[in-house]
Amino acid sequence: MSTPRLSSRSTAYAAVLLGLIGAISASDPSFATSARSASDSPQPQIAAGFALYKERCVLCHSENLAGGAGPALKGEDFVGQWEGKPLRSLYSRILMTMPGNDPGSLTPAQVLTLVSYIANENSLAEWKTAFKSPDDLTNIVVRSAK
Ligand code: HEC
Repeated sequence: MSTPRLSSRSTAYAAVLLGLIGAISASDPSFATSARSASDSPQPQIAAGFALYKERCVLCHSENLAGGAGPALKGEDFVGQWEGKPLRSLYSRILMTMPGNDPGSLTPAQVLTLVSYIANENSLAEWKTAFKSPDDLTNIVVRSAK
């Protein structure tokens, strides 16, 4: 009589134990870490900025940021404009005033891609993970022009 009771209890223990093992492996941090580091790379955001630049900016700033109707967005003069300032001021400038033919039409996320692209082309700063919000730009100061 005690035998079936015991075995049903040990079945219950086994079920609880299996549940625990399942919960632990589902929250294994090593999975989360590898997924996060892949999506944190700044490269996709830089590439998205390049694509958006060709769509919305190239008309006035030309291929390779060389300048045309608008000033060059690359080189010493450009870097000199932003030197010592937080990258966030470049972000705000673009968000508020660009593109010159349709200011205010870009979303914050789009402007983050453009800042990534322009900052990378000019080596304005070094950063290791994609920008998630404009706040990420506040403490990144543009390095001096070479
Ligand atoms: C219709 C033409 C036009 C387009 C399109 C345009 N711009 Fe401009 N941009 C200008 C002009 C003209 C200036 C300089 C005068 C001013 O500030 O309005 C300028 C200035 C700038 C500056 C400041 C440059 C400096 O020396 O500090 C930045 C940064 C900039 N543009 C980024 C962009 C980006 C990014 C885009 C694409 C989303 C873009 N612009 C699209 C015409 C344009």
